[in-house]
Amino acid sequence: MEILDGRSLSLQIKEEVKEKIKKEFLDKKPSLACIIVEGNKASEIYVSSKIKACDYCNINSRVVKLPQMISQQDLENEIEKLNCDDDINAILLQLPLPEHLNSAEAINKIIPQKDVDCLSDFNLGRLFSGNSSFAPCTATGIIKLLDKYKISLQGKNVVVIGRSLLVGKSVACLFEQRDCTVTICHSKTKNLKDYTLNADIVVVAIGKARFITQDYLKKDTILIDVGINRIDGKIYGDVDFENVKDICSYITPVPGGVGPLTVACLMENTLTLSLQQMM
Ligand SMILES: NC(=O)c1ccc[n+]([C@@H]2O[C@H](COP(=O)([O-])OP(=O)(O)OC[C@H]3O[C@@H](n4cnc5c(N)ncnc54)[C@H](OP(=O)(O)O)[C@@H]3O)[C@@H](O)[C@H]2O)c1
Repeated sequence: MEILDGRSLSLQIKEEVKEKIKKEFLDKKPSLACIIVEGNKASEIYVSSKIKACDYCNINSRVVKLPQMISQQDLENEIEKLNCDDDINAILLQLPLPEHLNSAEAINKIIPQKDVDCLSDFNLGRLFSGNSSFAPCTATGIIKLLDKYKISLQGKNVVVIGRSLLVGKSVACLFEQRDCTVTICHSKTKNLKDYTLNADIVVVAIGKARFITQDYLKKDTILIDVGINRIDGKIYGDVDFENVKDICSYITPVPGGVGPLTVACLMENTLTLSLQQMM
């Protein structure tokens, strides 16, 4: 079993972004605004790691912190302000939002040119039609990691468990574009093992700690664990690492696998949008 080391690839990506910014941006650096609605501890940790990465890459950052009970209208007004702000190239709305807010509606208020997570209907439409220059950060990071380890994708049977736009659907789309045969499973899938036991690559993004165990997998499966579950101050993936490690050929650890790549790809997407706006 070999560990797919997301941390070292994320450093490499951030280094490349930093170099490109040094070369291509003389005065005005690329800039990212992160909108965070208060009340979710994990989101605050994610946003602070994104800001740290911006500092590292020489990307200007701005955190827009909004009160937990903000109305949908006020949230959308804040997005409109950033859409019109020439000092901002990229906008990220940190998810999840509190239950009273509609995240799809809010995301669609971000203009496609600044929608750095590639989650608006317009940008997803381009992605799914194979006509996009960028993709959601987590999905991009997963494909980059497999490429880094020279894992061939063509013709592979891929099972993605989880169907969110943020992870499941977007990564399934990227695998399909790389000539994989993709099955998307979800909470209503019957007999999940019938699918996973035939998969060469399993991506798990369900948010259920240590859910996937050996009995779901055939020998030499490549296992991508997207899950981040906090229990008693410790972080667990959706995969029971100790239980499956001897049956996999490759596996992403949690932490240190997909998480850092999501942040690095956010830096890359910010750069991509900033360059597009300069044209
Ligand atoms: N590492 C990273 O950078 C990163 C980035 C984003 C998210 N995450 C983590 O990834 C996990 C998923 O995130 P998300 O935003 O995609 O979550 P989400 O929007 O809640 O979606 C979860 C998906 O999992 C499916 N599901 C839940 N229980 C299942 C089960 N027992 N069997 C099969 N499918 C099941 C759900 O099915 P239904 O659609 O039928 O409800 C849904 O499609 C979370 O732990 C999150 O923290 C990590």
